[in-house]
Amino acid sequence: MSEIVISNLHAGIDGNEILKGVDLTVNQGEVHALMGPNGTGKSTLAYVLMGHPKYEVIKGKVIFRGVNLLDLEPDERSRMGLFLAFQYPIAIPGVSVANFLRTAVNARRKADNPEDKGIPIPEFRTMLKDKMDLLKMDHAFAGRYLNEGFSGGEKKRAEILQMAALQPEIAILDETDSGLDIDALRIVSDGVNALRGEDLGVLVITHYQRILNYIKPDYVHIMLDGRIVVSGGPELALTLEEQGYDWLRKKNNPVSA
Ligand SMILES: Nc1ncnc2c1ncn2[C@@H]1O[C@H](COP(=O)(O)OP(=O)(O)OP(=O)(O)O)[C@@H](O)[C@H]1O
Ligand SMILES: [Mg+2]
Repeated sequence: MSEIVISNLHAGIDGNEILKGVDLTVNQGEVHALMGPNGTGKSTLAYVLMGHPKYEVIKGKVIFRGVNLLDLEPDERSRMGLFLAFQYPIAIPGVSVANFLRTAVNARRKADNPEDKGIPIPEFRTMLKDKMDLLKMDHAFAGRYLNEGFSGGEKKRAEILQMAALQPEIAILDETDSGLDIDALRIVSDGVNALRGEDLGVLVITHYQRILNYIKPDYVHIMLDGRIVVSGGPELALTLEEQGYDWLRKKNNPVSA
C-alpha cells in the first residue's frame, strides 16, 4: 500500500524534456540504488517526486500510498511520508535545526492525527539528542541555523538527521555520499541502516559503489538519458565500477555509439 509506483513519467524544466518515460516501483522495506551518468535526470526525478514547482510533468503517473502523488502539494507529499535528502541542501538563515525539525515533525503527526497537539518539548529534545547521537553530531548543531555555514559533510548529516526525525515511508537520498569523509560515510550509512526496516523504502541516488557496500541495495537501476535502461541486483553496481557506462550506451544506441 505504501509503495511508490512511477509509470511512464515524462517531465522537464523550461520546456526541455529531461525524464523520458521513467518506470520504477519502490516498496517499503526495500532499498533501491539509482545510478547513471551526470545530467541523465536523477535529481530531476527526485525533484519531480517532491513536487518542485519549477519542474513540469508532461505525462505519466506516480501513485504513492494509493493516491496520485502528482495531485499533491510538496508539503502534503512530505506529511504523507515522502522524504528527499537534497544533493545540494539549502540554508535557512534564522531557523534553527531544532525549530525546523519540531515544526516538520508536528506537521507530520498532525497529518496522521488531526487531534494531535504536537510533540511535547521534552520528548522532542530527547528524540533529537538520540538521533544526533546516532549520527555522531554535536548537540550544538540543534541550535544553529539550518545549514548556514555547515560544511558539505555536515549538511549531508543534517539531511539524514531530518530523515531520522521524520521517519518517512519512502526516502530519496540524492548523492548523500558525495562530500563525506570516510568516517562520515560510515556514520551516515549506519544512520540510514538503523532506520531501515519493513516500514521504510529507500532510493539511494549515487555515482559510487562505495556507499552501497554500507547501505546494501536490493535492486540497482541505471538511468541513461531520462530513462531507466537496466535494473538488476547489487552486482550491477560492481559491473559499472569496472566497466563504466559505455557498454550500456552502445547497447541502447548502437548507431551513434
Ligand atoms: N533550467 C534548465 N534548463 C535546461 N536544462 C536544465 C535545466 N535545469 C536542469 N537542466 C538539465 O537537466 C539535465 C538533468 O539534470 P539532473 O540534475 O537531473 O541530472 P543528474 O542525473 O542528477 O546529474 P548529476 O549526476 O550530475 O547530479 C541536465 O542536463 C541539466 O543541465
Ligand atoms: Mg543530481
